[in-house]
Amino acid sequence: MIQQINALTPIEEARAVLAADFDLKFSKAIETETRPVFERVKDRIPEIEWPFYAPLIFQINKLKREKNAVILAHNYQTPQIFYGVADIVGDSLQLAIEATKVEAETIVQCGVHFMAETSKLLNPSKRVLIPDSRAGCSLASSITAEDVLAMRAQYPGVPVVTYVNSSAAVKAVTDVCCTSSNALQIVEAVEGDTVMMIPDQYLAQNTAKKTKKKIVTWAGACEVHETFTADDIAELRAAYPGARIIAHPECPPEVIDAVDFAGSTSGMIDWVKTERPAKVVMVTECSMSDNVAAETEGVAFLRGCNICPHMKRINLENILWSLHTDTEEVTIAEELMEPARAAVERMIEFSRPKT
Ligand code: 13P
Ligand code: SF4
Repeated sequence: MIQQINALTPIEEARAVLAADFDLKFSKAIETETRPVFERVKDRIPEIEWPFYAPLIFQINKLKREKNAVILAHNYQTPQIFYGVADIVGDSLQLAIEATKVEAETIVQCGVHFMAETSKLLNPSKRVLIPDSRAGCSLASSITAEDVLAMRAQYPGVPVVTYVNSSAAVKAVTDVCCTSSNALQIVEAVEGDTVMMIPDQYLAQNTAKKTKKKIVTWAGACEVHETFTADDIAELRAAYPGARIIAHPECPPEVIDAVDFAGSTSGMIDWVKTERPAKVVMVTECSMSDNVAAETEGVAFLRGCNICPHMKRINLENILWSLHTDTEEVTIAEELMEPARAAVERMIEFSRPKT
């Protein structure tokens, strides 16, 4: 049997194509062009890595302009993506709202798959690309549309509020979506004394503490935030006296009770920018501290974070590949489009400040 022992892996093949089709050398011109980005991130990215990132950043930005594309990036993306190539950054709610306004032909979603689906739902005439479609989410994969229908049968007439961290199929059997920044607002806005809030049990429990409504939930959890405990917070307080500690509401309630502030990813960023603590621990995904640190001189960021393996599937190489090859395109089954979009649009409507 003939055996090819030097066959390239798919990643090596993609790298070979990129190397052939783009100039990825760290030239003087590229160094000059990318210097403003480097100046912002130099405390977070080792200088020795810059000659690898800079040509990719340069080529992505050039190709983006040529192909009339915009990059939407979540706050958990690495600094080289967040500051190097993103046109719009934000939390899930901000990215959803911004997706409705995109006029460019193509959206490249640097985040996880449900975020790309949300952009497609809200702006269906655009081509939505995700650089690695395996970028999932433990919350989105914890529940199916059939599970939601079974809950509906068990609690007839009770409205279903679904976290945006869910598939389009689940959104399609939902009354209204929510994010971590508007969860309480949405729960208060829907009719009735009982609400199903799925699939994040911790976001539901943390919201239940702030409302008189009865909340029924699902046993889903974020694999990044569920591992934090009250003991971890006590240890951080002992290790870093005087440091302020803030967390994402996907953490268990015992953690939220022990921290100084809880909020969405953008809520946490705004809190640090406003409060300007001398020392802070962000109990969430690790890139958050790196990204905020670039904009908050004088604040010391201490480590108490976990990495989201799904968010970290996105990198500069696969962003360039995605733009170059128009892959991987996000599509949503025709029958899911209308009902799933309606649930997200209702959320945006309910979150608008009342005038
Ligand atoms: P935000 O809506 O706060 O950005 O959260 C999204 C997320 O996946 C957090 O783990
Ligand atoms: Fe999902 Fe958690 Fe990753 Fe956010 S951090 S994308 S909730 S797995």
